Amino acid sequence: MIIKVAQSAGFCFGVQRAVEGVLAWAKANKGKSIKVYGMLIHNSYVIDKLRELGVDVIEDIEQIGKEDIIFIRTHGVSMKEYNEIKKRTDKVYDFTCPYVKKIHEIVREHSENGYDIIVVGDMNHPEVKGIVGHVSNNRKCFVVDGIEKVKEAINQIEGKTAVVCQTTFDSKKWTSIKEFLESHTNYKVFDTICKATINRQKEAAELAQHVDIMLVVGDKKSSNTNKLYQLLKEIKPTFFIEKVKDLDSIKLDSSAKSIGVTAGASTSPEQIEKVVKHLEEIFNEMNLKDFERLIDRSFLTVQKDEVVKGRII
Ligand code: F3S
Repeated sequence: MIIKVAQSAGFCFGVQRAVEGVLAWAKANKGKSIKVYGMLIHNSYVIDKLRELGVDVIEDIEQIGKEDIIFIRTHGVSMKEYNEIKKRTDKVYDFTCPYVKKIHEIVREHSENGYDIIVVGDMNHPEVKGIVGHVSNNRKCFVVDGIEKVKEAINQIEGKTAVVCQTTFDSKKWTSIKEFLESHTNYKVFDTICKATINRQKEAAELAQHVDIMLVVGDKKSSNTNKLYQLLKEIKPTFFIEKVKDLDSIKLDSSAKSIGVTAGASTSPEQIEKVVKHLEEIFNEMNLKDFERLIDRSFLTVQKDEVVKGRII
């Protein structure tokens, strides 16, 4: 049995920066009140690890006191929330991913200059809620998740319009929306989908062509992990697991000779390693001796520098 692990599987640059940052603070400030406003990242496994180190996760601004050290999640917050947090404590560390911050700036600047805004994304996702919260000047703002909704929105807008996209939106869907909007001259379209997301999706789709089964590891709440699963199940039989023990309830096809493993941007390297190790144990138990067992972590089809750009900026 061959196990191929996608090179881009696991933490992206924004997540790694936030998790390492909060971990370092938590270790250096033991005994102090450290809180993350909202889920730092969509991964309960990592959040539980932070809780073990004394980091509290809060959803309500009222829970913030003057002495608290506050971290802002990677998905970002609205302008109103940010100002309210700053009023309550001066110890605020912003771990909003710089790519999300860039969208905040575009939305703020353009709404201040008289543009209405279209956000392509999931209106229930915290990143999208945060983006909408940066529209100023009482400009109109529409959140849409498909071409039909885009058409409905543009029927309600008469003036200048700026369009941005949730960083982890489905890249195929975004491309068709972008092409549609770019064929109309009065829309300023900003391609704000995250390159790390595109590379991960590209690589996973390519990997799926070379294996019999795909496995996606990550939290069910994670938007980009869900997108990976949706994409892959159209290509190959695909399983979506959150934890190692979820593997035990999966019926792996015994005729399969290879399995591809990928993971969302919020899945830690530790979780991926545990899954791969457990897969090996399962294959051992299945007595798949006649198959070659090879763990190949070098699967990479996109240009190397593209991946580096997506991960290390
Ligand atoms: Fe940032 Fe892209 Fe990750 S937006 S948090 S680098 S998926």
